[in-house]
Amino acid sequence: MRPVLIGVSLLFVGVTGNAQSQLSGSEPLGQQLAQVCVACHSLQAGEPHKLGPNLWNIVGRPVASAEGYAYSPAMQKLGGDWTAVRLDHYLRDPAAMAPGNRMTFNGIKDDAQRAAVLAYLATLSDNPTQTTTTATPTTAFDFGGLPPGAGQAEVFASCSACHSLMLVKQQGLSRERWTQTLEWMVEEQGMDELSPQRFEIILDYLSEHFGESAR
Ligand code: HEC
Ligand code: HEC
Repeated sequence: MRPVLIGVSLLFVGVTGNAQSQLSGSEPLGQQLAQVCVACHSLQAGEPHKLGPNLWNIVGRPVASAEGYAYSPAMQKLGGDWTAVRLDHYLRDPAAMAPGNRMTFNGIKDDAQRAAVLAYLATLSDNPTQTTTTATPTTAFDFGGLPPGAGQAEVFASCSACHSLMLVKQQGLSRERWTQTLEWMVEEQGMDELSPQRFEIILDYLSEHFGESAR
């Protein structure tokens, strides 16, 4: 995938170039970690967009709403606001949340690091005191109310992109019907194909938590 290469090289320029050298090293962790974002995003009010949109006021802002920035169709389709919970999810795995979106960034897998970045993002706001409290993310992150268990994160990531998880949670289907539903999502509804391993994880989770006995 070519866009990934572009992303990686830009990232490299950003981190080794001007962005990093502006920091003394004594800044809060979140601010330091957010330097990877600076490779592609301006963070302060009024700064021009870079490869990605300016992120001022990002916490609470409607998705794909920065004026003068040409978002991908995938990002435009997502809808809603960038709540802290949603940002947390997006930053963990940008490709999973809005398949086809153009942020070629692998995400921040470490929960504590992501929480620190989110707390910092919440300060980049016209109204920081209000948003900071909403941005104590990872403990509050409830995966859309999916019951905990192996596969919870995968189901959240794969199944909340297009429709409410309510649609998933209200089902009580046999393993076979779930298999058919997943295939239908891919073949007819435009869900990205799942790797066999991921398919199994998701199928196990759905069959266990929303199986026939759940009805
Ligand atoms: C390699 C470049 C790159 C890096 C690194 C990167 N982004 Fe992005 N980001 C983008 C692009 C491009 C988009 C627009 C995506 C689209 O329209 O599909 C985007 C979109 C976003 C959006 C959606 C904005 C909106 O207005 O809806 C958020 C939020 C975001 N990025 C946050 C971050 C954060 C936080 C970091 C650092 C942890 C980061 N990004 C790192 C390129 C990058
Ligand atoms: C690319 C978009 C997309 C993704 C991703 C997606 N779905 Fe769907 N799904 C749809 C559409 C479109 C419908 C039809 C909605 C409607 O009828 O209102 C649907 C409907 C459903 C239904 C209702 C079926 C019925 O009989 O009414 C279930 C259950 C479902 N999806 C489960 C899932 C699960 C589980 C996942 C994650 C593995 C998932 N979906 C991911 C697009 C998607």
